[in-house]
Amino acid sequence: EIAGEQVERAPVVTVMGHVDHGKTSLLDYIRETRVAAGESGGITQHIGAYHVETGHGMVSFLDTPGHAAFTAMRARGAQLTDIVILVVAADDGVMPQTEEAVNHAKAAGVPLVIAVNKIDKEDADPERVKNELAQRDVLPEEWGGDVQFVNVSAKTGEGIDALLDAVLLQAEILELKAIPEAPGRGVVVESRLDKGRGPVATLLVQNGTLRQGDIVLAGLQYGRVRAMLDENGKPVKEAGPSIPVEILGLDGTPGAGDEFTVVSNEKKAREVALFRQGKYREVKLQRQQQ
Ligand code: GTP
Ligand code: NA
Ligand code: MG
Repeated sequence: EIAGEQVERAPVVTVMGHVDHGKTSLLDYIRETRVAAGESGGITQHIGAYHVETGHGMVSFLDTPGHAAFTAMRARGAQLTDIVILVVAADDGVMPQTEEAVNHAKAAGVPLVIAVNKIDKEDADPERVKNELAQRDVLPEEWGGDVQFVNVSAKTGEGIDALLDAVLLQAEILELKAIPEAPGRGVVVESRLDKGRGPVATLLVQNGTLRQGDIVLAGLQYGRVRAMLDENGKPVKEAGPSIPVEILGLDGTPGAGDEFTVVSNEKKAREVALFRQGKYREVKLQRQQQ
């Protein structure tokens, strides 16, 4: 029903794992070395999602706050992430939250790529991690399974290239597609009320293209996109499939995991938003005025 050609899109990746196994360090290392620096005077804003260019293609990451959206979407049976990078510290092995992440990913049908982290440490034992995960049906490729294990260090950067390659290889298998010409739609990663700028929402575009000036319906909110910013706080005019952006212009803060769509009619958008907010009297009044 949507006109336009299907093209390959970048994978959307969530990093999960047990406490202190190095999720943030890994994301920080990738962000610092891959996200174009200097564009915002060196100040990297913290937003819940960002994308990086690698030698072999683009990858979008959802940061820890994105987990709320991940959980909310899963509860609705929708899918926010294409691939989960499961971080397991090689000196600690499989822990309760490692298992939880495995179960999460399996329930959502999302493939795992295992980052065996802290490989720089003297007591690192990557074979033990393999054994422990294999016991939980996460079988390494080299043992006849279909899960890629990559030894990395978020401290030294060792193996990070190989990890990104593994993610892109997994993405190829998934044959992720989208239609850039379609109206933008996707999911709310997080939102907040900014004192100066009003409601700010981080959106992940899943299909189509979101443009400045578009009318957006996001959960209970609506509004015209007044400005769009990338992860460096740099203004952008549009965002295509798998690209996260911050938008200004909504009339409130939608919830993490809420879906958003671009709509053509502002009155209609307002009406739907009011309806969703339970303001039926206002909906009736607006209709009478038309
Ligand atoms: P939570 O968000 O609290 O669950 O932790 P996390 O998984 O984000 O771990 P974090 O990145 O905060 O790292 C925990 C500790 O491990 C920090 O002291 C890091 O410096 C250290 N660390 C992370 N990765 C590595 C690594 O590859 N090698 C070494 N030696 N230390 C690491
Ligand atoms: Na930590
Ligand atoms: Mg962390």
